[in-house]
Amino acid sequence: MNISDLSKQIEVIYEESLKVFKAASSSKNLYDLKVEFLGKKGKLSLLMGLMSKLPNQDKPKFGSLINVKKKLLEEAYTEYKTKLDLIDLNKKLDQEYLDMSLPGKEIETGALHPIQKVSENIVNIFSRLGFSVRTGNLIEKDYYNFEALNIPKDHPSRDMQDTFYIDDNHVLRTHTSPIQIHTLETEKAPLRIIGLGSVFRSDSDISHSPNFYQIEGLLVEKKVSMANLKGTVSFFVKEFFGKELKTRFRPSFFPFTEPSAEVDCQCSSCMGSGCSLCGQTGWIEIGGCGLVNPKVLKLSNVNKDTENNETDWQAYAFGFGIERMAILKYGIKSIRFFNQNDIRFLSQFK
Ligand code: PHE
Repeated sequence: MNISDLSKQIEVIYEESLKVFKAASSSKNLYDLKVEFLGKKGKLSLLMGLMSKLPNQDKPKFGSLINVKKKLLEEAYTEYKTKLDLIDLNKKLDQEYLDMSLPGKEIETGALHPIQKVSENIVNIFSRLGFSVRTGNLIEKDYYNFEALNIPKDHPSRDMQDTFYIDDNHVLRTHTSPIQIHTLETEKAPLRIIGLGSVFRSDSDISHSPNFYQIEGLLVEKKVSMANLKGTVSFFVKEFFGKELKTRFRPSFFPFTEPSAEVDCQCSSCMGSGCSLCGQTGWIEIGGCGLVNPKVLKLSNVNKDTENNETDWQAYAFGFGIERMAILKYGIKSIRFFNQNDIRFLSQFK
């Protein structure tokens, strides 16, 4: 065995390896070939093993010859691998082609309940007039729900038929007016507050639900008149419906207001000409209102501040049914829809 034989063998292996590297069909195939020629037990390494059989003076030459070829082959490997990797990537990208014009998956989102939506809407309008929100309690003492509002013991609205009694002294609030009393007792005039939330009456038929929602307004200032009240309510109705709807006050009676009125607004559906929604009258009742009865202010000690001469406070109050407002605004056919949680109904308010 001499150096020239071995050199020839190196050359043969080198040429063969270059040829197969070039012909490799994939990165994986190329890697296998690299192992076959350049790996620890590869063809070049086997030749290296023969070095011991050479005379000493030829060993360095042989060693460097093998190293040069090995380096060249490694460079060739890197070059072909880069090319093959790119081909592989393009193949993969072709297979995984994304059609960007396809519609995306629809994500179902929730929506505010129409009662919540209308409540927020009403609060927004009144907050622009300087009113801020109070919520009160769902269970009220008899005193706050009735007595303090000048509703005497024998008043018809105390009838068992209308009121859910918890015990002799507690009721589920039948209106949001107790919020007026809590505010009068705990806060100092002047005041502009909106009270809203659930109320309960033992009354259930096609147009009445035992649990419904009210919104209440209370303003306490030095000079308060029915004209102020009517101005505020008319402004509110126009803002809420977004139309020039007229409002009208009809004389009425509430123990806690004097004078009292029922508030009607022009039917938002027919604009006053008469339709099935307003029973052909052109008007729809939305709630009650009035100047707060001085007896109520007195019971809550509003005009007791004689020291500061703050004794001439007056007040107006109003209360609307929120369902009624929602029905009118969205043309909802029945009050029952609000409590059924039917997704087909609710999803219309997105
Ligand atoms: N609390 C009354 C009701 O529930 C409505 C109302 C509120 C009337 C404020 C006048 C003033 O019927």
